[in-house]
Amino acid sequence: MLTVINNLLSPSELAHFRKTLDGANWQHGAHSAGQLAAPQKSNLQLDDDSAAARCLVNIIISKLNQHPLFISAALPDKIYPPKFNCYQHHGHYGQHIDSAIMRCADGSTLRTDLSATLFLSQAHDYEGGELCIEIGGALQEVKLDAGDMILYPANCLHEVKPVPTGQRFAAFFWVQSLVRSHQQRQQLFELDQSIQALTQKLGNDDEEVKRLSALYHNLLREWALA
Ligand code: NI
Repeated sequence: MLTVINNLLSPSELAHFRKTLDGANWQHGAHSAGQLAAPQKSNLQLDDDSAAARCLVNIIISKLNQHPLFISAALPDKIYPPKFNCYQHHGHYGQHIDSAIMRCADGSTLRTDLSATLFLSQAHDYEGGELCIEIGGALQEVKLDAGDMILYPANCLHEVKPVPTGQRFAAFFWVQSLVRSHQQRQQLFELDQSIQALTQKLGNDDEEVKRLSALYHNLLREWALA
């Protein structure tokens, strides 16, 4: 399942992001790729330890933690602090799969159940740069506007097409979900979305809404990893 989350960042937050990114120190991205992925990677990345990166990471994490669609779709247990990259001058990232386990700065590990890309440049400001995701035997091309985010299963092969002109800024990160199975997580998401729609129509006190909510929580209790 691909989930698009529109307007994660407001226009004023985006302006702050762009100003910070434009004035930041960028490094060649091949340094940060795993051994298998390094030769395929040609982009710039922001130093994770820089003050600029830390400030933007905190904003993204706090927006994610308040976003009902993100919470419903990802059921996040742990979010890897977002990284920032920039593709320009034909920069690209060939087809690859992200590592299953990431080590966080505090030494803990995170299982990558979901991958996310938050677009920070307007789609019309650069050529190419589509995120191509192989999912369910089909290839999906994703190119969103600034402030919009795509969430996709981390077990999909994917690539970023070359960016011949303009600059494609983005943040990317991974989520360890409370529910490891993509199928179970998707069923919970569909149930939750229907319960929310029914609650709007019938109210919280409706008997069937209460029963469906109980079903949702009991399935989550059954499927969530301790
Ligand atoms: Ni990747």
